Amino acid sequence: MLGICAQDFHGDLATARACARTGVPLTVSTLTQDPLEEVATELGETPGFFQLYTPDDRDLALSLIHRAENAGYRALIVTVDTWVTGWRPRDLNTANFPQLRGYCLANYTSDPVFRCRLPGAPEEHPSSVVGEWVNVFGRSLGWQDLDWIREATDLPVLLKGIQHPDDVRRARDHGVDGIHCSNHGGRQANGGIPALRMLPEIVEAAEELPVLFDSGVRSGTDVVKALALGATAVGIGRPYAYALAVGGEHGVVHQSRSLLAEADLLMAVDGYPDLAALRREGLRRL
Ligand SMILES: Cc1cc2nc3c(=O)[nH]c(=O)nc-3n(C[C@H](O)[C@H](O)[C@H](O)COP(=O)(O)O)c2cc1C
Repeated sequence: MLGICAQDFHGDLATARACARTGVPLTVSTLTQDPLEEVATELGETPGFFQLYTPDDRDLALSLIHRAENAGYRALIVTVDTWVTGWRPRDLNTANFPQLRGYCLANYTSDPVFRCRLPGAPEEHPSSVVGEWVNVFGRSLGWQDLDWIREATDLPVLLKGIQHPDDVRRARDHGVDGIHCSNHGGRQANGGIPALRMLPEIVEAAEELPVLFDSGVRSGTDVVKALALGATAVGIGRPYAYALAVGGEHGVVHQSRSLLAEADLLMAVDGYPDLAALRREGLRRL
């Protein structure tokens, strides 16, 4: 949805440019306004990860995976908590569902497999694009799906939306390379357990696997807390989307730098010279 957060509707490109300027890695959604290849170009040398909403058409899924690989993304992040969207009253009240208006579907309309499902060129058949997208978007993933996804790529595969240590263990059994602990910013199961509450158990179950974390991170101090609880890396969702809407590329740069500066200063103020010290000594249970 980043694409349409920018005034010119090219928010994915603006964010990628901001990441290139700050060195902050970007996870690029399946739902973008510009094709994943063009977003990758704007990232330059800064790492990008491709987030896959696995379509219910395996050929299309494989095509997206291979395109991500060819475009230079460094990892595949398979989101497992959104095969269907949750009940979102604020979106319902404003009839907000951009995909149904044809937005954020560039990775589909630029895809040869998806295009074969259309009666002709996407620009001439906008309602078919939306209809086919609705048909193909959501696959209710089972553990067995991990096997063919795993086989399809040499990229590291991470699962996003993990909130239970048992799922971490099963994911490990299926050969994933990392876990992304997230409750989708609370957007899927309203009233669910905060991701931060689950993080320590997830980290313990993951053992040597890296654990990415997001959901509810709003400040540098939030970042430091998640790192202290064992996250390998910490992600943000809404804050940079808001920054993009207000200030475009420069807004995202400013927001990222502010977050980094706050995290850095908090570490200094609290006397942690590096992440290892924070992870070793940074927790006191009250
Ligand atoms: C408007 C919006 C769009 C999102 N789109 C995606 C998406 O396409 N793929 C995905 O895996 N997560 C998506 N998410 C979830 C985020 O990746 C992330 O998990 C969440 O926003 C983190 O929580 P935070 O917003 O509290 O930082 C979206 C979140 C928002 C708010």
